[in-house]
Formats: sequence, structure tokens, C-alpha cells
Amino acid sequence: DVAGKIVLVRLDVNVPLADGVVSNDARIRRAMPGVKALLENGARVVILTHFGRPKGKFVPALTVRPVAQVMSRILGQPVPVENDVIGPGGKAAVSNLGPGDLLLMENLRFYPEEEANDLEFAKSLAGLGDLYVGDAFSCAHRAHASVDALPRMMLAAAGRSFAAELKALHATLSQPRRPLGAVVGGSKVSSKLTLLENLVTKVNGLVLGGGMANTFLLAQ
Ligand code: 3PG
Repeated sequence: DVAGKIVLVRLDVNVPLADGVVSNDARIRRAMPGVKALLENGARVVILTHFGRPKGKFVPALTVRPVAQVMSRILGQPVPVENDVIGPGGKAAVSNLGPGDLLLMENLRFYPEEEANDLEFAKSLAGLGDLYVGDAFSCAHRAHASVDALPRMMLAAAGRSFAAELKALHATLSQPRRPLGAVVGGSKVSSKLTLLENLVTKVNGLVLGGGMANTFLLAQ
């Protein structure tokens, strides 16, 4: 029962931009049904996310404001952005939320404490809400404050798209129909190597694409 509760929702809406405008909104669209369900049930929703890799400093080009515009269009309601995430501004913005209202916190990685998994930072975030929903499957491997320390401090649940990802992975990898192939892309090979080592034991064929393929071409 989330009616009237302040729910902190950790999303991964780290989407690509072109000239300051979101050029692929898939991650945002996928996350919205869960957020909508919370809003319709009368929650006061505070969205937490990172955006790019600003390395603990304010980088104007990595503001979440373009994301807010897309969210607002999808949800059909205003999505204000709060800059002062753990200061008085953030507290005031959260306390002004009514049931069914939404607030997007500015890029958490503007704070060095986020990537440091800092407990005091997580405590400040925890102080903003009553419940936590983790719906950021694509960054669940990061031991960062809003992903790791924070949900340990609050009553926490996995969100809808997180659950759907796990279900799909489980269905695909536990008892797959064969032949089973995997297509893996992206640019961050370092964080995917262990994943590939695991996948390669389960699939009949593995296709690599994206920037990551270059590492393998070079090795060959
Ligand atoms: C991603 O886009 O892969 C996720 O948002 C994680 O981003 P990160 O690799 O910068 O932690």
C-alpha cells in the first residue's frame, strides 16, 4: 500500500542525447509503467538516477532535464527537476509533493559520494522517503550509494521492469529451447567480460557487436 507514501524509485534512465535532446527514449518508456502504477495508487514519487559519467562534479551537459521532458510527455504530468538532492531544497521539494505527484532528482553522479557508495549520502537519500523501489536492472551491478547502500537502509522492493528482466533471463538461461544464440553489443567491454564468460558456457552461438567487438578483433 503506497497511498500517501513517499517512494524513492531508482531508475536507469541513462539515455543517449543528440544536441541536448534524448535520441533514444527506450529506457525511459520501459520504466514508466511501474512509475505510473505507483502514481495511480497515490504515491508521492521521487525518481533517482545517474546520467553519464560526470565523475562527482556538476557537468551542465549531463543534467537530467532532457529526461524530465520525455517523462512528462509520456506520463502527461509535470516532472520538475530538483538540483539540491540532499540539501534543504530537496527536502522542501519532496515535502511539497502531493499524492500522485512526481519529482526527478538531478544526476546523482554530480555527487562523488554516489559512486563511493557513501553511507552518509545514502542516509540523506533515505531520509527523503518511506519506501524504495529498485527498477534499474542495467546498473544493478554497480555498488553505488543509490543502488547498494540505500536499499539496505529502507523497506525496499524490486520494480516491475527489474522483475521482468530477471524473469526473461531466467526463462532464457535455465531451460532454453536450443539452439540458443546470444547477441551482445555495447562499448563497455571491461564490465561485460565476466558476463560473456558465463554466457559462453550456456549458448550455442555468441555474436559480438558494437564497440566491444573491436577488442576481440584485435585479440584475434
Ligand atoms: C549503462 O548505460 O550501461 C548503465 O546506465 C550503467 O552506466 P555506467 O556503466 O556508467 O555505470
